[in-house]
Amino acid sequence: MTNMKSLAGTDAGTGAGVVVVGGGQAGFSVVSALRGAGYDGPVTVFADEHHLPYQRPPLSKKAHTDPDGMGVTLVPESFYRERNIGLRLGDGVAAVDTTARVVVTGTGERVPYEHLVLATGARNRPLPVPGAELDGVHALRSIDDALAIGQALTTARDVVVVGGGFIGLELAQVARARGARVTVVELADRLLSRAVSPQLQEHLRERHERTGVRIVTGTAVRAIEGEGRVRRVVTDDGSLPADLVVYGIGAVPRDELARAAGLAVDDGVIVDEQLRSVTDPRISAVGDCARHPHPHADGVVRLESVQNATDQGALVARRIAGSPGPYESLPWFWSDQGDIKLQIAGLRTDTDEVRVLPGDSPERLAAYAFRDERLVAVETLNWPAEHLAARRLLERRTPVSPADLTGSTLGALARARRAAEVRA
Ligand code: APR
Repeated sequence: MTNMKSLAGTDAGTGAGVVVVGGGQAGFSVVSALRGAGYDGPVTVFADEHHLPYQRPPLSKKAHTDPDGMGVTLVPESFYRERNIGLRLGDGVAAVDTTARVVVTGTGERVPYEHLVLATGARNRPLPVPGAELDGVHALRSIDDALAIGQALTTARDVVVVGGGFIGLELAQVARARGARVTVVELADRLLSRAVSPQLQEHLRERHERTGVRIVTGTAVRAIEGEGRVRRVVTDDGSLPADLVVYGIGAVPRDELARAAGLAVDDGVIVDEQLRSVTDPRISAVGDCARHPHPHADGVVRLESVQNATDQGALVARRIAGSPGPYESLPWFWSDQGDIKLQIAGLRTDTDEVRVLPGDSPERLAAYAFRDERLVAVETLNWPAEHLAARRLLERRTPVSPADLTGSTLGALARARRAAEVRA
């Protein structure tokens, strides 16, 4: 039987159900939350990779050599079978016909939908230099990429990492732990320029350098050279020997399917606060490929994170199952770079003051970012308790000013406020 509530205002009776394009964290979240919310119409997810949906974050945090020992699969195949979720692995969607409301697969099959969810994710920015196609040059996004890098690390001595962002710094520490000589080449003047405040960038650089990783900033890669296999990386500051090059220079949304279908796209599929395409309300976009209004930002954002993918998938599933609501989740992120555990709560856009405070042990540190004297984001190093306190306070939109932090951590502040609430 079809869930009538979910079909209110749509074409009840066609039985076309929900089609999800993309089997990453966001696509998985949609289909599992649909069944969790009681939706009992047809659900089909198209995933162009051949693996069961899996988590990507662990791929860059250790060297993987055994496909069976990775432990990244989200749930076993039986999960989908028991819930009657159609899982089309290795099957890409080539086109969307928004008038007929069908998706067209790579083999020309036409599959109808009542509601279409785009969870197509992002792809790595390619490294735009000669020699990027040589053997021994890798980017990381998929299980297959992780295995190729893990295999290369069993013999690599000189590793050059291009890009000092999340992926680059995580992989630099993985390579270092395997005993390789590691150089990170970053184009910007600082590491992690997209992700963290300048105060933390300097601090992180020192911590990485202490592990023996060499860091070169403000430097462009001109070419990668070798005969068939990589031998050296030529930068505008000289040449580096390399038998393995990994690069992580950012990601771009996979929004071409939406664009070809005539949906509004601008570095991501443009959606409203309920994550519906602004062009076609029967189509939603979630995760890395969606650009959306966000109450924790001034305007629209496109976020690349597990939190965003999971929460957006669940929100769209609840709407389809009959409980609509706006997307308001607090953004949070993490990156494990060797022994450095970086966690971020909130968005640091347009902040006008950052305070850095030491924690209660030498490896702990936090940067608190304020906009108009109000706390909007907190970056912590090796300090999970302070990160969780930040999330709780920011989620509840509890005002925290720079003065509140004098001589106090957020953890202590949250405890004091709870105690005051109990007394009142
Ligand atoms: N050469 C060297 N560095 C470059 C170049 C280049 N040609 N172009 C960009 N960079 C640098 C950027 O300045 C930035 O510091 O690469 C870094 C990219 O960092 P991120 O934006 O964090 O992207 P990346 O590390 O590739 O991560 C991609 O994976 O972990 C997730 O959240 C992360 O979604 C993101 C994705």
